[in-house]
Amino acid sequence: MNQNHEAAPSIDTLIARADQALAQALPAEHQPPVELHRAMRYAVLGGGKRLRPLLVYAAGIALGANLDALDAAACAVEFIHAYSLVHDDLPAMDDDALRRGRPTCHIVFGEAMAILAGDALQALAFEILADAADIDDAETRLRMLQVLGRACGAEGMAGGQAFDLAAVGHRLDLAELERMHDYKTGALIRASVMLGALASGCRDSATLDALDRFGRAVGLAFQVRDDILDVEGDAAVIGKTQGKDAAADKPTFVSIIGMDASHHRLDELVNEALTAVEPLGERGNTLAALARFAVERVS
Ligand code: IPE
Ligand code: IPE
Ligand code: MG
Ligand code: MG
Ligand code: MG
Repeated sequence: MNQNHEAAPSIDTLIARADQALAQALPAEHQPPVELHRAMRYAVLGGGKRLRPLLVYAAGIALGANLDALDAAACAVEFIHAYSLVHDDLPAMDDDALRRGRPTCHIVFGEAMAILAGDALQALAFEILADAADIDDAETRLRMLQVLGRACGAEGMAGGQAFDLAAVGHRLDLAELERMHDYKTGALIRASVMLGALASGCRDSATLDALDRFGRAVGLAFQVRDDILDVEGDAAVIGKTQGKDAAADKPTFVSIIGMDASHHRLDELVNEALTAVEPLGERGNTLAALARFAVERVS
């Protein structure tokens, strides 16, 4: 599509597209088990910035892909993300009552249903990728399943959450902190970019490497910004309880290197991300806009 120099869809158009694909891919609310399906829909719909689906679409746009081929991956990464938030908010983890400006899933549906909603969302993410009808190459779907599996497992998001829980009350050095952030938040963001590239049929290793450098920088930057917002943010705007990291004695960028150095690190990371996608020229504009958004966002 972009080979014909059509204008890239706006971010708002892409958010609407993701919202529609997510609503369609989720089990219907009236279908039993009704309570589980309601909890899954509650966790995914009606809030959230949709950064990960946007990165899937933006990587595809940079490579001239047809957006239809990207919907499954866009849904998969948001399902994993929503599941990770539901479990992150549980009493056994961060014990949060507010998410996306609303009561957390376990507050509304109870802990058992929240655990199951997370489990089912995780399974649905893999199912939708395996089934992706717009990606007719089975090898590509297999590679995408591997990328997603790695990103959310013990060497990705779940591993990062384990580092996070183990770090409570401890003082990490900067390398340990960056590793924790790379795993718990960076891995899925990085995978979102990679899934967009794979779904687009990209096999060129130099391009994939450049996109991976981009994804890594944005992924780390995103969690640095999250740490900053926990201190500087406004609860009404961030839609979650503010000041929780300090209250729970979590090591964060702000607690380890301070606010000024955290902002400086953000500048470095956004420059790294922008440099990585520079060779893509205009086609990389949506990716570049998302990198800027990741570090400037207020929610
Ligand atoms: C919050 O993610 C948790 C982190 C990984 C930092 P987001 O800030 O992307 O949350 P939503 O999807 O917009 O609610
Ligand atoms: C959450 O990190 C990361 C994952 C859910 C994988 P945080 O615990 O900092 O996220 P928030 O601040 O609750 O959104
Ligand atoms: Mg947490
Ligand atoms: Mg949390
Ligand atoms: Mg946080």
